[in-house]
Amino acid sequence: MDLDVINKLNEILLHFKLVLNFNNFNLSIHSCSIIALSFIFIIYILISITSSKKVASISVNEEKFNKNSYIPKPIYDFQWDKVVPVKSYPFKNAPYKLTMGIKNLNLQEWLLIEPTYLNRIENKTKIINNSHADYPKDKDMRNSTLFVTPEVIPSIIEFYDIVMNYMYNKYPTCFNKDEHYYYNLITSKKYKIDETDPNKLQEYLVENIEEDFIILMKDETKVNEPNGQEYFFKGGVFAFAAGFNPRDRFNKPLSFIHHPVPNYETKLKFSMNKFFDRLKPGEFVTRSNFSIQTHSKFYVDDANKGHNLPKDFVQKPLDYDDLNFEKNQHYRSERQVLTKLPKTKAIVFTIRTYLLPLSQVKNDGKEVCERLVGAIDGFPEEVAQYKRSQEWGPALKKYLLS
Ligand SMILES: *[C@@H]1O[C@H](CO)[C@@H](O)[C@H](O)[C@H]1NC(C)=O
Ligand SMILES: *[C@@H]1O[C@H](CO)[C@@H](O)[C@H](O)[C@H]1NC(C)=O
Ligand SMILES: *[C@@H]1O[C@H](CO)[C@@H](O)[C@H](O)[C@H]1NC(C)=O
Ligand SMILES: *[C@@H]1O[C@H](CO)[C@@H](O)[C@H](O)[C@H]1NC(C)=O
Repeated sequence: MDLDVINKLNEILLHFKLVLNFNNFNLSIHSCSIIALSFIFIIYILISITSSKKVASISVNEEKFNKNSYIPKPIYDFQWDKVVPVKSYPFKNAPYKLTMGIKNLNLQEWLLIEPTYLNRIENKTKIINNSHADYPKDKDMRNSTLFVTPEVIPSIIEFYDIVMNYMYNKYPTCFNKDEHYYYNLITSKKYKIDETDPNKLQEYLVENIEEDFIILMKDETKVNEPNGQEYFFKGGVFAFAAGFNPRDRFNKPLSFIHHPVPNYETKLKFSMNKFFDRLKPGEFVTRSNFSIQTHSKFYVDDANKGHNLPKDFVQKPLDYDDLNFEKNQHYRSERQVLTKLPKTKAIVFTIRTYLLPLSQVKNDGKEVCERLVGAIDGFPEEVAQYKRSQEWGPALKKYLLS
C-alpha cells in the first residue's frame, strides 16, 4: 500500500517534470490542466494516507483493549508437576529502599501453574470454606477472605472469563473447554462458562488458579472522603494474607490497603495512585516482596508483622537451637501482578504466594544465602521492627551462613 503510494507520487512527479521540460516553461493549456489534475491527485493521496493512518491507529487501540490481548501462547508439552518453579527471591545485598519496584511483565508470565498447584488450591478451598485444620473451627475464615460488592460483579464476570480462557489457551494439557464448560484436567472438575453468580465465580477461580486476586474500582459515592478518588478494594479472594485481616481493608481505598507499610504515605502513595490511573488494559506490571515467618500457615492475620504487637513489646532474638529450618522457619514471597480489565476498567492484583522452608532456600546455594543475609542487614530500624527481623534475624543469619 505504502509502496503503491510512493510509486504513484513518483509517476506524477515524473510526468510533471516531463511536461515542464517538453514545454520549456511555456505552459500550454494542456499542461496546465495536467498540473491541476496532478495537484488534485496529490491532495487526494495525502488525504487517503492520513485517513488510512487513522484507521490503522484505531485498530491498534482496539486490539489493545480487546480480549485477545489476554490470550497467551499454548505450551503443548507442559507437565504441571515437573515444571521448575519461579525463584521468587526479590532481595538485594544492599540497604533497604522503599520503592514501587515495578517491572513490566509479558502476558505469557502472568498466571502460573507450578508443582504446588494442587496443594495451594486445596489449602485455599478449605480456608474459604471454613474447614481448614490450621484455624479454629469457630473462626469465620470465609468472611475474612472472600469479598463481593454489588458494583464489582461485572468485573468478576469479566475476570473469570479472561482467566479461564487464559488457562485454557496457555495450558492445553491441563484445561479443556466445550460449548458449556471449562474442564480442569488436573482436578477433574468442570465449570460453567456462563456462570454469573459472583460467589460461585470466585470459588471457581479459587479452584483453578493458585493466585489470590483483589479487584479495585473507583467509587463515585466516596470521592469527597479522604483518599476518596483512589481505587477501592471491592472484591476478590485474599486467602493467603500475610499479617493482617483482609476484611479490615475491604471497601477501603488503596492507601489504606498499604496502611502499616513504613513510609508508604510519604514515599509511595502519590506515585502508586498516578501509576494506577495510567495503567492500560492489556498491560501487566509486577512487583515482589519477601519476608520470613516462623510457621507454615498460609493465612495469617495475627503474626508475621510487627505492627500487630503491643507498643511496648521488645523483640527478642530467637534461640537458634529452638528453631526448625525444615519445618517451621519459612521464607515467604509475594509475586504481585497488576492489570486493568479492558471492559469494566477495574484493576486486578493477582498475588502468588511462595512459602518455602528455609532449608530449601539454603539448598539454592551460597549466593542466595549471602544475598538474603545482606538484605536483612540492610533493613533500617522501622523495617526490621515491621518484619520482626529482630526476632528471627540473628538465628537465620547463623543458619544461612553455616
Ligand atoms: C496445605 O499445605 C501444607 C503445607 O504444604 C500441607 O502440609 C497440607 O497438607 C496442605 N493442606 C491441604 C488441606 O491441602
Ligand atoms: C466445605 O465444608 C462443608 C462443611 O464443612 C463440607 O461438607 C464440604 O465438603 C466442604 N467443601 C470443600 C470443597 O471443601
Ligand atoms: C462478616 O463480617 C461483617 C463485618 O464484621 C458482618 O457484618 C457480617 O455479618 C459477616 N458475615 C458473615 C456471613 O458472617
Ligand atoms: C508484601 O506486600 C504487601 C503489601 O503490598 C503486604 O501486605 C504483604 O504482607 C507483603 N508480603 C510479604 C511476604 O512480605
